Order: sequence, then structure tokens, then C-alpha cells
Amino acid sequence: MSSSKEIIQNNLDYTLFSWSKQKGINPIAIKEAKGVYLYDYDGQKYIDFSSGLMNVNIGHGNQRVTDAVVKQMQQVAYVTPSCVTEVRGELGKKIASIAPKGLTKTLFTVCGATAIDNAIKLARLYTGRHKIITKYRAFHGASYAAMSAGGDPRKLAADSQQAPNFVHVEDPFCYRCPFGQTFGNCKYECVSHIERVIEFEGPQNVAAILMEGESGSSGCIKYPKDYFTKLRAICDKHGILLIIDEVMSGWGRTGKWFGIDNHDVIPDMIATAKGITSGYIPFGALIVSENISKHYDDNILWLGLTYSAHAVGCAAALETLKIYEDENLIENAANMGMYIDEQVELLKAKHPCIGDWRNTGLLGCLEIVKNKVTKEPMAPFNAKPNEMEIMNKVAAKIKELGMYTFVRWNYVFIAPPLCINKTEIDEGLAIISEALKIADEHYQAN
Ligand SMILES: Cc1ncc(COP(=O)(O)O)c(C=O)c1O
Repeated sequence: MSSSKEIIQNNLDYTLFSWSKQKGINPIAIKEAKGVYLYDYDGQKYIDFSSGLMNVNIGHGNQRVTDAVVKQMQQVAYVTPSCVTEVRGELGKKIASIAPKGLTKTLFTVCGATAIDNAIKLARLYTGRHKIITKYRAFHGASYAAMSAGGDPRKLAADSQQAPNFVHVEDPFCYRCPFGQTFGNCKYECVSHIERVIEFEGPQNVAAILMEGESGSSGCIKYPKDYFTKLRAICDKHGILLIIDEVMSGWGRTGKWFGIDNHDVIPDMIATAKGITSGYIPFGALIVSENISKHYDDNILWLGLTYSAHAVGCAAALETLKIYEDENLIENAANMGMYIDEQVELLKAKHPCIGDWRNTGLLGCLEIVKNKVTKEPMAPFNAKPNEMEIMNKVAAKIKELGMYTFVRWNYVFIAPPLCINKTEIDEGLAIISEALKIADEHYQAN
């Protein structure tokens, strides 16, 4: 058995790490994981407060998924997408029973980006239009189309390579309203802005509006009440499709099956991945409305992947969906989310640096500021390494105290697995509270 040092060194010497300079990386070597905990080779335990990449929704080490995967592999691991398996049909049927009304057919993909890419392609093929409207702060994946669709600054290094015909709009970011308004007194300038952009771009050219069901890595920017109803009306007026990215916000993460279920709106397509298998196997899905699927009864569907509807992925997904139900995980996400909301209120009283807390179910994020009135962030949007000094210290403290979670710019994410209980939440929040003392020292009172 290799030592922890050897394992890390092999990884550093022979593998590449995403979104990082390759020198100076200090990864945790994970030996095993169970429930909400990760364990390294030196016996250190970490509470996983971001569910991996907000994907391990059912928690780590669930034997039922392993058993379902092994059973499927023993029967048949791979068939071409033109052959069928029992599990593919069963999974499709199960998703149709869970998805918003009328979204009844699914194309299975291999990850989130392939679900998004296929959604974009299908929207263009189906409508015969080419433009896709998306938000500046969204992340939709790192493939060319998904990257270009997102506005996340991770794409800026490859700016010249962006795919064409994506038009970006401002997020409805009430804490930092780009239109200088306050919710309650505003006239939904975030929506009228989109209407104007559509007019400028030519509604007849716009195939779809693509948005996350709930925002995630951009800082859990919550959609204001009625935002999606207004957007749906605009889409209907102009024959524009509404595509919802449920890669991160799907599968119980927000206390409902899908993030969009919190908004009383039926989209035309849902692109999803992550929680569909809780990360046990890479897998994704594009769920489409009957209007769209019926069109392809008599027209060729020009989409395809070698690993579409991979039998083992389907088996992992079907078992994962049953686990959500059998273990009441979605209800638990809603309840534990409310518990975290209450506890964060107490933390706010203790830590002046908490500027905002935005959460839906278990998709939450603390926004850390230098001053509550000016809202100056502790690290700016797209912070450079030298602007991350304080937040890096906060992140290092979180890790030292035995937690794995995301600290990005001035955001600290709280998005644990859906199986978490109150004791584990208390343990995690105590770690965050301790680490926030570092940020408090840099708070500049008026
Ligand atoms: C909202 C959202 N969409 C799409 C993706 C891309 O998914 P994947 O990394 O599986 O390609 C991500 C990944 O983090 C995401 O958060």
C-alpha cells in the first residue's frame, strides 16, 4: 500500500489539475468516504460541506448504488444507444414521473456539459433560430458551447475561442442589484432588461433562454419572486424556448426535485447531471417537453453520443432516484435547509463579516464583506491571487479544522449531502464560525 505522500506525489507528477497552476497544489488524498465524511490516508476526517462538487447528494458510500452498478455490469455494461436495456426504459419512465408536467422524454448524456451542449443544439434545430440568451454570472460547463453559454470568468482565458451566438444578460442579483434598485420598490428592471435585449437581438433570432434552476457556483444568487413567471411569459410571447440547467440545482438539492419546481414554471427542456447519480458514475440527461419530442417522431434527431444511455450509468441513476425517495432525502434537504437558515441568523449576530446568506434547501452561500453598508467584498469578483489573501486564510482554517468545502472569491459555500442531520450541521457551522473570525478581523466598521 502506498503512503499518503506517495499517492499525492504520483498525482502531482502524472496528472493534471483543473483550473489551477500545477505548482503549489496541496490536494487531500481521500482513502474512503461515508455519509457526509471524507477520510484521508492519515486518519484525518473532513466533513464534506459541498457534497463534492455539489453532486454527491445522497451522501458518500451508499452500498445500494454499488450493488446496482455491479449487478448491471454483470448483466451487460454497454450496449449501443440504438439497442435498449430494461434499466434505460425504467429510468426514462421514472424521470417522466418526477419531471415538471409534460417533460416526458429524456436523452441520456455523459455529464452536465454534454447535456447543456445537446440542449443548445436541439433548441437551435427545433426553432430554426440561433441565439441563446444566458446570464453573465452563470456556469454551464467547460465544453466549448457550455463555456460560451456561461459567463463565469473561467472562460476568459479562452475568450477568443468562444462559440458564437450567445447573448449575455445581467443576473437578478438583489443583494447587489445591477440596476441600483431594491426588491419591493423595483419594477423588475432585471426582466425588462432581458426584454430589451431580445428586441435588440431580434426575437425571431432567439432560440432559447438558458438559466440555472437555482444559481450555484456564481454565489447562489436567488431569483426574485415571480422572476421566472415573467420570463416564461416573454418566452411564450416570442416563441422562445426556456431551458433550465438543473445540473447543480436538480435532484433534491433545493428541497424539491428540481430548482425550477420552486418557481411554478414549466420549462421546455431540463439539462441535468450531478445528483442524478450522486456522482457515483458520470452521467447526465436532457429532458424535453412533449412538443419537442413529438416533433422528432417524424424528423431526425441529430444528436448522439457513444455513451448515451450507458447501462451502468442508468443503473446508478435509477437506484439513486429510489434512494432519494426511500430515505426521504428531498424532504430532509428542505428541513435541514431551514435549520441552517436559523443557525446562520445566529452566526450573523456573531460575525460582522457575513454580508449576505443566500440559500435554497441545501444550496447555500455566505457572502463575506469588509463592510455591511458599502458591501465591499472581502475578495472581489474574479479575484486575482493577491486579492485572495484573507479569504485564502479563511479557506485554510476551514480545511485545518476538518472541513471540505468551497471558498470562492468572497463566498463560502454550504451545500452538504442531503442525508445530513442537525448534529453534523452544528459541527460544520462551528468550523465555519471559527474560520470567519479571521475575516472579522478585517471588517471595517463605519
Ligand atoms: C450549473 C452547472 N451546469 C453545468 C455544469 C457542467 O457539468 P459537468 O462538469 O458535469 O460537465 C456545472 C458544473 O459544475 C454546473 O454547476
